[in-house]
Amino acid sequence: MQRDKFTRKAKYEGYFARSVYKLKDIQTKFKVIRAGDKVLDLGAAPGSWTQYVDELGAKVDAVDVNEVKFGNWIKVDIYSDSLFEKISKEYDIVLSDLAPKTVGIRTLDNEDSYDLSMKALEIAKKVLKKNGKFVCKIFQSEFSPKFVKEVKKTFFTTKIVKPVGSRKRSKEFYIVGLRKK
Ligand SMILES: C[S@@+](CC[C@H](N)C(=O)[O-])C[C@H]1O[C@@H](n2cnc3c(N)ncnc32)[C@H](O)[C@@H]1O
Repeated sequence: MQRDKFTRKAKYEGYFARSVYKLKDIQTKFKVIRAGDKVLDLGAAPGSWTQYVDELGAKVDAVDVNEVKFGNWIKVDIYSDSLFEKISKEYDIVLSDLAPKTVGIRTLDNEDSYDLSMKALEIAKKVLKKNGKFVCKIFQSEFSPKFVKEVKKTFFTTKIVKPVGSRKRSKEFYIVGLRKK
């Protein structure tokens, strides 16, 4: 299979993954990250979002069970009780590009994606400052409306986006929460 243009572009521009162009598009549309912000990047490996957040002049903690090849890798499972001992108490932004290891059984994959996104929201509720921002991936499914509803309860403004770089055949979309209540 021929590699797509974003994979080639990422390699050429020195990013660890093509996913960087999704965050770049979200940033162009909503200006979520500013220089000096403190950012928590959940599901950060291999590290292209972390690279880009650093380029924008923000400080980033990168959480993943797998190696994040850039910046401050915090090796922990987001479901682990020790997570809150390893991360800071307050952030301006929580990003989540967490994705389950898909098994090809649609309902199971969708449920895993929903669980990860709900966990990311729970973490965001604990560590985000008032007026903080949230960017989170989820697979569109029978479960995703419930997640969107929860995000809407937590933020004054929410936006749904299928960013540039997200493959058309992928069911993923991103929700952006602006101004945490
Ligand atoms: C699509 S990748 C993230 C790509 C990343 N944003 C980048 O630009 O390089 C999703 C990541 O979620 C991580 N992940 C999935 N479940 C996790 C969990 N329970 N705890 C920590 N990380 C997890 C995976 O290890 C994987 O690296």
